[in-house]
Amino acid sequence: MQERSQETVVSEQFGPRAQSYLTSPVHAQGEDLDQLAGIVGARPPGLALDLGCGGGHASFRLAPLTQKVVAYDLSEAMVATVRSEAARRGLGNLEARQGSAERLDYPDAAFDIVVSRYSIHHWHDAVAGLKEARRVLKPGGLAVFMDVVAPDSPLLDTWLQSLELLRDPSHVRDYSVPEWHAMLEGAGFRPGAVSLFRLRLEFSSWIGRMNTPESHVQAIRSLQARAGAEVRRYFEIEADGTFTIDTMLLPAEG
Ligand SMILES: C[S@@+](CC[C@H](N)C(=O)[O-])C[C@H]1O[C@@H](n2cnc3c(N)ncnc32)[C@H](O)[C@@H]1O
Repeated sequence: MQERSQETVVSEQFGPRAQSYLTSPVHAQGEDLDQLAGIVGARPPGLALDLGCGGGHASFRLAPLTQKVVAYDLSEAMVATVRSEAARRGLGNLEARQGSAERLDYPDAAFDIVVSRYSIHHWHDAVAGLKEARRVLKPGGLAVFMDVVAPDSPLLDTWLQSLELLRDPSHVRDYSVPEWHAMLEGAGFRPGAVSLFRLRLEFSSWIGRMNTPESHVQAIRSLQARAGAEVRRYFEIEADGTFTIDTMLLPAEG
């Protein structure tokens, strides 16, 4: 088999699915987006950067609240999708750019706001990406990180990462809240108070969005069928495989 970098795996996974991420209700809505709009709307409008913008839902919320937002993603197809959707919505201050979060082609202190939503668990080097995020953020600027959260329990953590990897080979790691704090502090941020949410993942659309091969779907179903009571309870596993996870919004100061 031909060798591919993790960045190629990510682009190959997400590229053909750009349209499904644009229309996915799991991504288009959420308490985290409402909270993000509240936090950003309370500040003077500035320059914002959305790392791993995917279908662009955080950027679309930020555009009316900022001078300009750069929607940034590794996948050229995601960037093209966000560019045309921004034009369709009349968001003239949204610029879409392709690139890796681990290597940002921007000078130090270029942005007032940096956000990232449901992306960092795919970054091959989250620590490097967070250091870059800190570098391009003005001192005292606002960062907001939104992502899936891993449970502190090793049992539940292993379950979550296993289901995620079987579904999508571009999955790297969902981090726990203590891991987030350590990474953010290591990158030079001052993390604020975390908000936790529960997110229900309807099974057929969850695997459909990533075109998970049938053999992996069967493996996920087989694991779920053999789960112990703690796992069933925590993930609220339903008869059709639908389950529920924790997500978070974590603001941080640069
Ligand atoms: C689940 S989607 C993001 C969803 C989106 N932020 C939203 O709010 O709907 C994850 C995105 O992260 C991008 N991504 C993964 N690794 C990346 C990296 N190292 N640098 C930049 N983007 C990356 C993928 O290409 C993909 O579009």
